Amino acid sequence: MGGNLFQKLGVMQEYFTDMEKVRVADLGRFNVTQQPQDRFVFKVPGLRNVALTAPYLHDGSVDSLQEVVEIMMKHQLGVRAPEKDIALIVLFLKTLTGQYQGKGL
Ligand code: HEM
Repeated sequence: MGGNLFQKLGVMQEYFTDMEKVRVADLGRFNVTQQPQDRFVFKVPGLRNVALTAPYLHDGSVDSLQEVVEIMMKHQLGVRAPEKDIALIVLFLKTLTGQYQGKGL
């Protein structure tokens, strides 16, 4: 959904204003470019094998896929999804786990 590009974390609803403290790492791409428009911008990670790569987000602050999908819904898409839909998306993300040398990871 994010398109594998650089995107702001907090497109539809600010993410970092909820935080107690914003750290340098939270500034994301800004730390590289020093461009104000790059504050809170991160590379959208590829989701291949995502079920195996917790913890999530740039700071590893989120342990579960369910929680990170809820964050995406609220802050990136600006929608409230029913629990059932979140669970289905998590199941979908689990289908992105691949194989290596013929064996499931
Ligand atoms: C239902 C829709 C979406 C799902 C299921 C989803 C899923 C995820 C997951 C699982 C991660 C964590 C990956 C990791 O840390 O390894 C992630 C991160 C991220 N997603 Fe989404 N995403 C969705 C929509 C979007 C949209 C619409 C955008 C941008 C417009 C977006 C931008 C990002 C960004 C920038 C990150 C990295 C944030 C960080 O590192 O702190 N996502 N997404």
